[in-house]
Amino acid sequence: MRIILLGPPGAGKGTQAKSMSESLGIVHISSGDLLRDHQARGTELGNTAHSYMQQGLLVPDELIIGMIEERIQLPDAKNGYVLDGFPRTVEQAKALEEALEKQGETIDRVANISVSEEELILRLGGRWICRQCQKPYHEVNSVPRKHGVCDDCGGELYQREDDVPEAVSHRIKVFAEQTTPLIRYYTEKGNLVEVDGEGRIEEVRESLLSAVA
Ligand code: AP5
Repeated sequence: MRIILLGPPGAGKGTQAKSMSESLGIVHISSGDLLRDHQARGTELGNTAHSYMQQGLLVPDELIIGMIEERIQLPDAKNGYVLDGFPRTVEQAKALEEALEKQGETIDRVANISVSEEELILRLGGRWICRQCQKPYHEVNSVPRKHGVCDDCGGELYQREDDVPEAVSHRIKVFAEQTTPLIRYYTEKGNLVEVDGEGRIEEVRESLLSAVA
């Protein structure tokens, strides 16, 4: 099963993709996590992407598309995946389709998670992420058992540099301008499902699992 999760920054894509991949036995592929990994390793892609990400702007399509095409061809993606953060533009969606077509594959479901802007700001302002396994936490909504430590792998929790207010407002604006057209694109293709992302994490999880079933 190949699933795309769409939604603004802080909608819960990472939280839900991680849990869906465990429930459905498919891999979670996050474009943001892949880019942050490139940055941590100091690759050319990571260094180029850094200034865009820090400002809350999209990294150019030509850099992202190749990175994702390579990732979905790895053996662990053979049985399917949950794509989180990709595609983000119609150009990226078309490139993904072309790459899949060559392998006789298609996307099965696209789920769009909607959350109000006020809630997105609260979520991103209080988010902490595991440096090791990337699991997101929140200082109010999803508190780790031990302060600063990931429940799952014991990794150190940190705050992302693009979760500062200025970058957050840029990211929300960029989503409205550059990613919203994708909602129409997939609606016209007939495989988009809408999911209310405002409930508790477990409620959103149930809605998503039944929406993609
Ligand atoms: P990326 O890492 O993809 O960030 P994003 O899309 O901005 O999304 P986030 O990771 O911030 O939020 P999320 O929806 O995953 O929410 P989460 O589950 O963490 O991209 C970062 C940057 O990389 C981009 O700005 C861009 O520069 C670049 N990039 C990436 N992909 C690209 C592409 N395809 N093209 C070009 N550039 C690209 O949850 C947020 C918080 O809320 C957490 O604290 C969580 O615990 C909490 N929470 C989650 N669900 C709930 C709930 N139901 N109730 C209460 N709290 C909740």
